Amino acid sequence: MKISVFGLGYVGCVSSAAFAHMGHKIIGVDLNKIKVGLINDGKSPIVEKNLGKYIKAGIKNKRLRATTDTEDAVLNSDVSLICVGTPSKKSGGLDLKYTKAVCEAIGKTLKKKKGNHIVIFKSTMLPGSAEDVLTPVLEKASGKKVGKGFDVVSNPEFLRESTAIYDFFNPPSTVIGANNKKAADTVEKIYKGVKGPFVKTTIKTAEMVKYTDNCFHGLKAAFGNEIGDVCKKVGVDGHELMRIFCLDTKLNLSPYYFKPGFPFGGSCLPKDVRGMNAEAKKVGLSLPILKNIIPSNRNQIDICTNMILNTKKKNIGILGLSFKADTDDIRESPIIDIIHNLRKKRKNVMIYDSNVLTAQKFGANKDVIEKEAPHLMDHFTHSLAELVRKSDVIVFENKDKEFEKVLPMIKKKHIVIDFVRFTSPDKVKGVYEGLCW
Ligand SMILES: NC(=O)c1ccc[n+]([C@@H]2O[C@H](COP(=O)([O-])OP(=O)(O)OC[C@H]3O[C@@H](n4cnc5c(N)ncnc54)[C@H](O)[C@@H]3O)[C@@H](O)[C@H]2O)c1
Repeated sequence: MKISVFGLGYVGCVSSAAFAHMGHKIIGVDLNKIKVGLINDGKSPIVEKNLGKYIKAGIKNKRLRATTDTEDAVLNSDVSLICVGTPSKKSGGLDLKYTKAVCEAIGKTLKKKKGNHIVIFKSTMLPGSAEDVLTPVLEKASGKKVGKGFDVVSNPEFLRESTAIYDFFNPPSTVIGANNKKAADTVEKIYKGVKGPFVKTTIKTAEMVKYTDNCFHGLKAAFGNEIGDVCKKVGVDGHELMRIFCLDTKLNLSPYYFKPGFPFGGSCLPKDVRGMNAEAKKVGLSLPILKNIIPSNRNQIDICTNMILNTKKKNIGILGLSFKADTDDIRESPIIDIIHNLRKKRKNVMIYDSNVLTAQKFGANKDVIEKEAPHLMDHFTHSLAELVRKSDVIVFENKDKEFEKVLPMIKKKHIVIDFVRFTSPDKVKGVYEGLCW
């Protein structure tokens, strides 16, 4: 395929050389004449392992050339890859001035171009940038509408400098956000031969993936450092500790605990996070990430409470009291705080949880229930039907399979609040609201 690549920095140079190696015909575009000249001379403008070799080969076999001329590049390509910088503004916000300038230049040429063109954003941009900010720039400059004459795709880049060529051919995944299937399929063809999963999604999701990745990478590094700081103080080797930590691919390095929604609770996580913070304080450390785990969880409890209060309804039916399904354990179950907040606002609360009801009579948690939440027992019902009948708002608190029986009972007048992605809007008659979706 014929591809123009805008911005010959780290991402643009690597993409140009690697796509040329894969057999595509590449025109690299940059405002910087020195970079353009170096590439046309078969040299790399940046220090990056093997990049020079790939650029030299691309120039020699005529699959790669560079220019400063946007019109030449757009008219002689089917797709344009945008790889210009997206720096921070002084305020910390995202500066889209380079992407806007490129889109204006490409749009002006699209005015003259017959046939379809795909604009692929590789630059890192916040959700909404491609659709709400840059598509209008392309539309205005080209006089065309997206989907009619050109398409817009988000394709975030995951390469790491120093191993960029290797990463290009072996990415963790290739993510394509597109506004139509044809555009997504065309981009998939460009990547044919590149390893790893290929994911098609919405443009905004693709944009958000890149920020989620980088925030998580920052969090991982800073978390590891904070744990290492405690290790040093308590006489543990931080590297040995993290080596063992990383062996756990069931709970630690795994999708577990990565389902956005309800705050965490139970008998271990809150207690042990508190314990670690107390120890850090004792040895003279102030560790912002560890210190803010519990406040972050409390904030999520407030978000849950406000979702219910914002309905302005009086009668609240809650499905689940234990901190997760298939247990009767209510120790530090976040819903207890939420119910407490609702009662302070004079809401009528009805609860159904067959595991907790059984435990209240016979189980090991009988004492805990009597100690931690005796008042809650007055709000219990033994009947799912009664809870639905008497409630304006129905809240899914955990994923107990028994709650499936409630779905057909829900009427149009109900508001369903789903904290755990138990169901979806198409499965309930009432108004549906999910916590993080
Ligand atoms: N560097 C990385 O490791 C990396 C990894 C993943 C994603 N990204 C993202 O990719 C994007 C590019 O990053 P980079 O490090 O390659 O940037 P860079 O600063 O190295 O290169 C950007 C290039 O764009 C050129 N440019 C600016 N305006 C232009 C225009 N109107 N027309 C043509 N060229 C123009 C500049 O001259 C420069 O050569 C950023 O959004 C960045 O966040 C970077």
